[in-house]
Amino acid sequence: MKGIILAGGSGSRLYPITKIYSKQLTAIYDKPLIYYPLSILMLSGIRDILIISNDETIPFYKQLFNDGKQIGLNIQYAVQDAPNGIAEAFIIGEKFIDNDNVTLILGDNIFYGQLDFIYNAILKNTGATIFGYRVHDPERYGIVEFDKDGNAISIEEKPSKPRSNFAVPGLYIYNHEVVNISKNLKPSARGELEITDVNKEYLRRKELKVQRISRGIAWLDTGTPEALLQAANFFGVIEERQGLKVACIEEIAYTMKFINKQELESLINSIPKSLYRDYLERCIKD
Ligand code: DAU
Repeated sequence: MKGIILAGGSGSRLYPITKIYSKQLTAIYDKPLIYYPLSILMLSGIRDILIISNDETIPFYKQLFNDGKQIGLNIQYAVQDAPNGIAEAFIIGEKFIDNDNVTLILGDNIFYGQLDFIYNAILKNTGATIFGYRVHDPERYGIVEFDKDGNAISIEEKPSKPRSNFAVPGLYIYNHEVVNISKNLKPSARGELEITDVNKEYLRRKELKVQRISRGIAWLDTGTPEALLQAANFFGVIEERQGLKVACIEEIAYTMKFINKQELESLINSIPKSLYRDYLERCIKD
């Protein structure tokens, strides 16, 4: 299974936060936003990861992660020239995906809670697996409608009259057919290769599984300054209460056995004196 993090886009709704660098690099409490989706891929056991972003931002991601080796990953980078749509990730990533299955996560999507259902879905995927999460503002998302037996029967992108309250979060698991499907898409009215059209094609082929996410899971929005503040507060409260960090990629690399104790120690030595470093030193002792 390969993993792609799509972390481009203009981020114009967050101007001027995004005037210099991209939204996925802004802080959510004590770490950059992109750490959260990256940690989901890592916890799923995915180690080959492609980060797609625009030309100006890729050097920042390289500064953050390099080739990923220090945390036991193989991280590659690719440029998306313009925000031509989420599905373009599979065209850009064709060589990287090769004949594998691929999980795409949007670089601004945050999930928190007991996430075994995601890790299992990634293990078991055959055609396509996406998720449905109840929201109060369905007009803003891809929306999936279920029949009375819980089967998905329609998917629409940002419908003005939503047929349900179940939004499709930015986490998509596909077999390698997704590359061909994406290549055959036509741009939508807003000029994008829509991920919703990919999902509709899998639905048409009867190869789409939509798993409903229970209310115990948090899928957080990061689209507005207020949402960023709420997400930061959310993780601030949890980390403070438990004394454990969420999405600490070095800790995850160690607990997933991507790196051993010695490698974690040398990684810690490269981190400046900070609360983050103190935390990792405590992790080793524990
Ligand atoms: O967050 C989930 C939603 O994401 C889904 O429910 C929708 O079906 C899906 O279309 C998408 O909706 P958004 O309107 O929120 O997508 P947005 O254009 O904001 O892009 C989401 C992220 O992906 C954003 O951080 C920027 C990045 N992106 C987006 C596009 C279109 C890219 O890097 N490249 C792109 O071409």
